[in-house]
Amino acid sequence: MPRVLFVTGKGGVGKSTISSATALKTSELGYDTLLISTDPAHTLSDLFGLRINAEGTKIKENLEALQVDVIHEVTEHYAEIMDFISEVLKARQIDEIVAYEIANFPGITGAAALLKLLRYLEEGSHDVYILDMVPSGDALRILYLPFVFSRFSRKFMKIFAPFADLGRPLASITNIPLPSREVIETEIKLLDMLERIHGFITDPKITSLRIVMNPDTFSIENAKRTLVQASIYGLNTDLVFINKIYPEELANGYLGDWFKAQKEHIARCELEFSPIPMKRVRLLSREVKGMEAIEILAKEIFENEDPAKVYHESKPIEIVNHKSGFEIILRIRNVKKEDLEIERFGDELLIHLTTEIGRTAIILPLPAIAYKYSMRRAKIINGELHVYFGEADD
Ligand SMILES: Nc1ncnc2c1ncn2[C@@H]1O[C@H](COP(=O)(O)OP(=O)(O)OP(=O)(O)O)[C@@H](O)[C@H]1O
Ligand SMILES: [Mg+2]
Repeated sequence: MPRVLFVTGKGGVGKSTISSATALKTSELGYDTLLISTDPAHTLSDLFGLRINAEGTKIKENLEALQVDVIHEVTEHYAEIMDFISEVLKARQIDEIVAYEIANFPGITGAAALLKLLRYLEEGSHDVYILDMVPSGDALRILYLPFVFSRFSRKFMKIFAPFADLGRPLASITNIPLPSREVIETEIKLLDMLERIHGFITDPKITSLRIVMNPDTFSIENAKRTLVQASIYGLNTDLVFINKIYPEELANGYLGDWFKAQKEHIARCELEFSPIPMKRVRLLSREVKGMEAIEILAKEIFENEDPAKVYHESKPIEIVNHKSGFEIILRIRNVKKEDLEIERFGDELLIHLTTEIGRTAIILPLPAIAYKYSMRRAKIINGELHVYFGEADD
């Protein structure tokens, strides 16, 4: 079975560094490893001191790196869809430049990187795939949006497909261009692929999310938000890293206060992220550049461990069968009692709630069996949300 490791975190926390150290270690253990970066800044090239291209560059035995050229991927494979989206926006009298900007939104470009990953996964090209993700507070949306997009868009496409050849006349009535047959076919193919990706990334035996943070307020808040989103999206976070920890030598003197603050942050993180295992990574005395530095870090972080193992597995969402009904348990941290609203729309639940990251809405697809039952009640037990379904008239 392949392993896919997504490495995410706030900008500059050390995602590329940790990804590279992880990749170096797995390749040394004999896994055929592919390190993928979608960062337009070409960080991996700088890190390894090698020119890394979009086709894949061999770094050493068992280790290949690849710099996804997102613009190229999108224009090559999804140009029709982008054209369609921007046509729709233009029809609503949105400026053409703005329309192209919107059509080029991160969900689409991120999806392009995922499609590339899918191609490799289905070919079985490597044993371990490590994705060094772009810095973004919402990096995970890239993983989830394709799925939501595909659920809604498939319905939409089914409605429009019969009209595709009537495109022009109808378009002039509605003032919204209809997708051509080509666009529909491309889109349906794309949706199938996105669903297959969703299958890979929500299988905890295959995919793990690894969150990198630094011992400071902002990157920790960002990491917590990411963890909650990951739970909602069904992605298993199996390891977190606190990177750039000051060594004891800095306990006194100019950086003394920083050192103390870091200690407090680390202690808090240990509480807040438990039971997910946490790796502490010290700040080296210089920038991590070149194979030697990455090697030092890889040794310190993983020692004799296998970074490709599943470090931890927990089910943020669970479905339990009862005699006449079932129960959905949402293990999102600290759901607050006040301010909980749940609505059912057909085969989906829309849950508005407040968690430690603030007010948020979750769309939860219901299991097929839900057709037989109606929603009876929702309870919060130890910070977890339990939603019960049963016969309508008992
Ligand atoms: N443990 C460490 N010790 C010393 N320097 C580090 C450490 N980790 C990261 N750095 C340095 O911090 C900087 C940012 O690291 P890196 O590029 O890996 O972060 P990133 O999260 O990938 O950034 P971006 O969000 O821009 O992609 C680099 O200069 C890197 O060498
Ligand atoms: Mg980076």
